[in-house]
Amino acid sequence: MSQRQSAKVLDNQPVGPSVYLLSLEAPAIAAAARPGQFVMLRVSPGPEPLLARPFSVHGVRGGKLLILYQVVGKGTELLSRARPGQELLAWGPLGRGFGLEVERPALVAGGMGVAPLAFLAERLEERSAAFEAFYGLASRETLTAWDPVSGEGAFYLEDWGWHGASEDGSQGHHGLATQPLEDWLERAGSPPGAVLACGPLPMLKAVAAICAKRGLPCQVSLEAPMACGVGACLGCAIPAAGGGYLRACQEGPVMDASTVDWDKV
Ligand SMILES: Cc1cc2nc3c(=O)[nH]c(=O)nc-3n(C[C@H](O)[C@H](O)[C@H](O)COP(=O)(O)OP(=O)(O)OC[C@H]3O[C@@H](n4cnc5c(N)ncnc54)[C@H](O)[C@@H]3O)c2cc1C
Ligand code: FES
Repeated sequence: MSQRQSAKVLDNQPVGPSVYLLSLEAPAIAAAARPGQFVMLRVSPGPEPLLARPFSVHGVRGGKLLILYQVVGKGTELLSRARPGQELLAWGPLGRGFGLEVERPALVAGGMGVAPLAFLAERLEERSAAFEAFYGLASRETLTAWDPVSGEGAFYLEDWGWHGASEDGSQGHHGLATQPLEDWLERAGSPPGAVLACGPLPMLKAVAAICAKRGLPCQVSLEAPMACGVGACLGCAIPAAGGGYLRACQEGPVMDASTVDWDKV
């Protein structure tokens, strides 16, 4: 059940170039959040911007809700200025998260897609569930000096054993996350129960195609502009396979890749 609550900013630190880790006191949302779900957040206590912005749940620590975000425009720039003690309005958790009942899933994160997948990995680890994880970034720099667990010190996803790729070759495989995924699928004795992915649209399209070719179940977390976050405005419509639309905030953001019309997204 989603909650609307005033959330106190506990911390809001830069953890990479234009990337911040926000910690909010939001016990009701934190208690209910599942990996892949998101919150709508008013990024400033003032009237501007009017619309809340959607952010994936990156983690929970007791009553604390963690959000990992990149500054891309006005709203996220304002959010980066939020200081401890400030109250922001948040509602959530919203949407459909990742299905956790998957035998040995393969996780694929691109860019800020790391935000929900780190939470997913954490929940899988709590269940002692086996999984493989892959990430792709523009550059090693994106990862530098942040630790999504403690929010302190330098940390690299390699420490978790994730297979890495970077577009500039500065970290892991030189190229996209889909290459180490495909290499691993070639080598893996038994296929993963499903591939669970979040990242930029071209990456999700590529992952969906790889899975379709191999007959693998695939869950993708799709981003779309969201005005309301609760199914009312239809601003987040995603073309559905077979016609019609899926609302990213209600039927998603995590969707079965086979339900999406990838030629029209
Ligand atoms: C379900 C969901 C979960 C999300 N989780 C995260 C997260 O965990 N961390 C994070 O950093 N971001 C996340 N986003 C994206 C985030 O909501 C946007 O970056 C944010 O709303 C931008 O607000 P702004 O006012 O700063 O930018 P705007 O001024 O609104 O836009 C600035 C630029 O960013 C582009 N932009 C805006 N929204 C998006 C989007 N959804 N996807 C791609 N480009 C966009 C615009 O086209 C424009 O070019 C998520 C989006 C969705 C739908
Ligand atoms: S954001 Fe309004 S219907 Fe999805």
